[in-house]
Amino acid sequence: MTDAPTYSGPERILSGMQPTGNLHLGNYLGALVNWVKLQDRGAECFYCAVDMHAITMPNDPGALPGAVRSVAAAYMAGGVDPKRSSIFAQSAVPAHAELAWILQCVARLGWMERMTQFKDKTGSDRERASVGIFTYPVLMAADILVYKATHVPVGQDQKQHLELTRDIAARFMRDYDCAGFWPMPDPIIEGAGTRIMSLKDGSKKMSKSDPSDLSRINLTDDADTIVRKIKKAKTDPEPLPDSVEGLKGRPEADNLVGIFAALNGATKEAVIAEFGGQGFGAFKPALADLAVAKLAPVVDEYNRLMGDPTDIDRILQAGAERAREVAAPVLAEAKRMAGFWG
Ligand code: TRP
Repeated sequence: MTDAPTYSGPERILSGMQPTGNLHLGNYLGALVNWVKLQDRGAECFYCAVDMHAITMPNDPGALPGAVRSVAAAYMAGGVDPKRSSIFAQSAVPAHAELAWILQCVARLGWMERMTQFKDKTGSDRERASVGIFTYPVLMAADILVYKATHVPVGQDQKQHLELTRDIAARFMRDYDCAGFWPMPDPIIEGAGTRIMSLKDGSKKMSKSDPSDLSRINLTDDADTIVRKIKKAKTDPEPLPDSVEGLKGRPEADNLVGIFAALNGATKEAVIAEFGGQGFGAFKPALADLAVAKLAPVVDEYNRLMGDPTDIDRILQAGAERAREVAAPVLAEAKRMAGFWG
């Protein structure tokens, strides 16, 4: 007996963010910084704005195209280079939706019912949730598999969706007897900044849906606003500990040290080595200076890009063309295996 063929195609990177509201420091340090680094890996990168996912929740259709532009500008301001990476809107590549249908018939209801994000998002109001919010992870699987992506940089909260993607790919290959057609995509979850927490509550993730703007630093905040938000960030009365272990049970201190480390591309150990024993009166101004120094160029570049939407639209157009080119043969093959006409 010979071994079943395994995937032998090129490495490809894919990720996406929802175009809802402004990006914040958590998106930047937790995701974008990784996306930018991955461009040096030599693999082709696809970074999309997932506007089809955005309509799974109540949203304003009039604001959606602008939100796609804004998120694309944020990708570029953060360092995604459109010459090396395809930047595009998910809805501009119909292959995502077409493959998602096939994959919906591969995924089992039982698998979907285990998805914790669906439960978190719908809460007790499940009856009124859209069907789209339930099948959301299958569309995400299609986003990934339609490019045969091998690596997917995501936050910790998306790990379960990546596991589902692998289950769907494996089941498809078994049902349609096509071992090796898809890679088993690997999540890339790394970096000190993977989990940036709220500035007001160290146990909650920094989020664009938090009602308090003081809880997050937006990529559109000017220097004064950044300084003010760090000054007002919640802390405890103790000075910083002498070792990283001392941050345990001090979520706000841990978060600020983590932000400092991530902004500096350093470890928490290095931050503690410099600031251990000092109070927040000394640490916060240093953090504010660093945040302004690192973020100001990003904010300036974002504002410059947003000043010329035609340029962004051109990049989105070119990115979608390249994405369609790569997705087309994968979709065609999946349709053929499913037995579709034509
Ligand atoms: N669900 C992801 C999030 O909320 C966004 C997303 C959609 C995504 N499709 C994707 C991420 C494909 C990685 C790959 O963050």
